[in-house]
Amino acid sequence: MSAPPPVAIPLRLSEHLAAPVEPLKKGDPCTAVILGAGGDLTRRKLMPALYHLLHDGLLHDDFSVVGAAREPLTDQAFRDRMRQAILDSTEVGHVPDATWDRFAQRIHYVQGDMTDPAFFAAVSARVAEFEKESGRPRGRLFYLALPPSVYATAVEHLSATGLVPRIDDPAQRPWARVIVEKPFGSSLATARALNQSILKRLAEHQVFRIDHYLGKETVQNLLVLRFANSIFEPIWNRRHIHHVQITAAETVGVEHRAGYYEQAGVVRDMFQNHLLQLLALTAMEPPVAFRAEDVRDEKVKVLRAIRPITPATIDDFAVRGQYGPGAIGGLAVPGYRQEDRVAPNSATPTYAAVRFLVDNWRWQGVPFFVRSGKRMARRATEIAIQFQRPPHLMFQNGGRSFAANTLVIRIQPNEGVSLCFEIKVPGVDVKMTSVQMDFSYANVFGATDHSAYETLLLDAMVGDGTLYARSDQVEAAWSIVDPIVQAWSAEPPRDFPNYVSGSWGPGAADAFIARDGCQWRQP
Ligand SMILES: NC(=O)c1ccc[n+]([C@@H]2O[C@H](COP(=O)([O-])OP(=O)(O)OC[C@H]3O[C@@H](n4cnc5c(N)ncnc54)[C@H](OP(=O)(O)O)[C@@H]3O)[C@@H](O)[C@H]2O)c1
Repeated sequence: MSAPPPVAIPLRLSEHLAAPVEPLKKGDPCTAVILGAGGDLTRRKLMPALYHLLHDGLLHDDFSVVGAAREPLTDQAFRDRMRQAILDSTEVGHVPDATWDRFAQRIHYVQGDMTDPAFFAAVSARVAEFEKESGRPRGRLFYLALPPSVYATAVEHLSATGLVPRIDDPAQRPWARVIVEKPFGSSLATARALNQSILKRLAEHQVFRIDHYLGKETVQNLLVLRFANSIFEPIWNRRHIHHVQITAAETVGVEHRAGYYEQAGVVRDMFQNHLLQLLALTAMEPPVAFRAEDVRDEKVKVLRAIRPITPATIDDFAVRGQYGPGAIGGLAVPGYRQEDRVAPNSATPTYAAVRFLVDNWRWQGVPFFVRSGKRMARRATEIAIQFQRPPHLMFQNGGRSFAANTLVIRIQPNEGVSLCFEIKVPGVDVKMTSVQMDFSYANVFGATDHSAYETLLLDAMVGDGTLYARSDQVEAAWSIVDPIVQAWSAEPPRDFPNYVSGSWGPGAADAFIARDGCQWRQP
């Protein structure tokens, strides 16, 4: 019999803990150039994030942003478009004129094609103009908001034109850096080739491979929770933890991304980057310092400790699924194969559940169940640490089952942390029930419209790569997921679609986790 749902106890933090604190860092003087500024990412994320940084006083006074794309536009037309984009974005509700004017005067536009050297000469002239006006050394930050097929070409041109020279010493000023969007490769071989092409021209510290999950508040909080408190670390191991569940469930379907998604599927789209990053942060050893290389070293070590999954063992380690028609929030939705630009017999998985085993002293025998799916019952991303049950239970609890202690780190929505434990129900009997001690960011700190891109852009401006992926980390993650992708491509599924939209995934996934005596949570 399953345990009843826990009762929530809101946790009140003292006032001084919730008080605003002075920012610890501010961007260096720099010119940011967005290559591909006509796109969705620039409109929805990058410009709103830069605007917000300026609004919060986190950009240096000596800052300009140049949008570069193929459409012919004047500076003013591009500014107007960006103002509308900022107004439309979910991150910014209101744009006061005075703040907008301060931001607008820093926005510029260059038109051209990324494959044309003349375009880079035009960008170079514009950047040189700002540097001359500024009269002091300015860093250069190039954001590749481009299709992945042009990442390597763009870096070649940036290097050949001298816009981003190779700088071996990270302390050298002025600096020049490149932010590369995801996906970084589509396999181990392509990621390796892209790394080699970029690192032939630039030093590793100049390359910022973005995974916006790492900029999320709760993801960073995972490090603070684990390493700034002394109560968790002693029990953060195989002696006390029964298993870990990492879930990234979406209610949306493939939307307008079918062209990409048909090729990618859930493993490339979610596991290679976001989910393995969450696993690494949960499982890694304590870094010596909160410095980029120390944190990245530990992440790579733990990724390398993950037991390889091979085509021969795939069924022991993973389950795949694809959504069929169903209902989300009471509205009928089509199945994946009925979506626009999806093949009617598509074998692309939209759901996967994988059991990762980490072969080291800390985690031997503790399964990490990681799942992600589209068109699931609820939108939720969380990490749930389930502790061992008491070795002996002296309470009878009327023959009813009880829940194991669980620490849940909610990444989205309603970011926060909760701890589930058993208590006695008031009364003459010794009857137990599960309660939940809950910390919610919104309740304690108020609603925040601070986006992951703000954190990440600011970090790139100050040269902090802690929340960005290093080349070896990207390759380590690809070497974990590549065999899964290959095994599934070699063996087309016979049961797709195998879950109803609006459910918690295929029935096979329930049987899969039950083999280890566990049960999926329903966040
Ligand atoms: N959108 C998101 O929320 C999101 C989230 C995560 C990652 N990403 C990644 O971010 C990157 C950009 O995404 P997006 O959604 O903004 O894509 P998008 O809407 O297709 O925009 C791509 C931009 O690149 C430009 N472009 C393409 N080829 C070019 C070329 N040869 N020369 C000059 N400009 C060129 C396009 O110009 P035209 O307008 O002239 O075609 C457009 O401005 C992609 O790698 C994507 O995977 C996006």
